[in-house]
Amino acid sequence: MARITTVGSLLVATASAQLLNIPALLGSLGPAPEDDPRFTNWQAPGPNDVRSPCPGLNTLANHGFIHHDGRNMTLPHLLTGLAEGLNMGADFTVLIGGAGLLSSPDPLGGAFDLNDLDQHNFPIEHDASLSRQDAYFDDDHTFYDPYWQDVLAYFQNGQTALKPAAEAIANRTRDSEAINPTFTYGFREFIFRYGETAIYLQSMGGSDADGVTRVDWVRSLFEQERLPYNLGWRPRAEPITIPSLGQMVFELFTVSPEAVPEGKKIFADSYKDVFEVLVGGSEVLNNITDGLAAAVGL
Ligand code: HEM
Ligand SMILES: [Mg+2]
Repeated sequence: MARITTVGSLLVATASAQLLNIPALLGSLGPAPEDDPRFTNWQAPGPNDVRSPCPGLNTLANHGFIHHDGRNMTLPHLLTGLAEGLNMGADFTVLIGGAGLLSSPDPLGGAFDLNDLDQHNFPIEHDASLSRQDAYFDDDHTFYDPYWQDVLAYFQNGQTALKPAAEAIANRTRDSEAINPTFTYGFREFIFRYGETAIYLQSMGGSDADGVTRVDWVRSLFEQERLPYNLGWRPRAEPITIPSLGQMVFELFTVSPEAVPEGKKIFADSYKDVFEVLVGGSEVLNNITDGLAAAVGL
């Protein structure tokens, strides 16, 4: 089990003893070419495949951008797959994927399975999801259409936008608070939820400025866990990064009808900060990601 990190040369031996050339990996990232067959090759999970409470990761697994069986998600594998399928930036994948590693039964092993992410309240799964029930009602990972219909009801003329997206979040907050006696909603959950809305808006084509995109593309992501390639969607040209998401979290909050829990203030950096605190600080993040965090500027 070699785990040698040589920060100077940025060559690291990971838990699997494979040499990881960080600059080469980071330099190779980007969306797959338009004619990549994976964009149209969608396969539902089989009986031995695992999936997660995350519609984005499930979608990428269904298309084979990440392992179709949903297992053994290492950061190098996620970096490549998330960039190829959705043009997620390396900083996003290292930060959120680094948090995801903590859900593994072996957090230092360098990989998680998608169903590890079902764990409630730590590291990521939370109450008042847009398309899943609260863990209190048993299943926090399977798509749950009644809540999703409540979300969709906020959008008009087949288009998303920041304000209705923020109102849909606030509606789910009120709803969960009313029906779930164990409802948990602090600053961390608040940031995650606004972040997840920013992710679906940006990955499904919404511009950073106004979050406007097609509702049928967003529905494909959530309802079928399928990239809406045949509906005309393509990965966006600019990567989706922690700054682009952090800025949209801030914008969403600005138009949101709900208050920030714990009386905190929201800044464009809040998104990044919450994840770094969650994993135990930037040095810990760098250690559990084998030096990738520092290499992407986190
Ligand atoms: C390694 C990267 C990622 C990890 C570890 C991760 C993990 C998670 C987890 C644990 C949840 C459940 C939170 C909850 O609702 O309780 C979640 C939700 C979500 N994720 Fe991901 N995710 C990742 C990448 C992505 C990507 C690439 C997308 C792109 C579309 C995405 C979109 C979403 C959305 C929209 C939700 C909210 C679902 C809802 O509210 O019903 N995620 N993610
Ligand atoms: Mg949830």
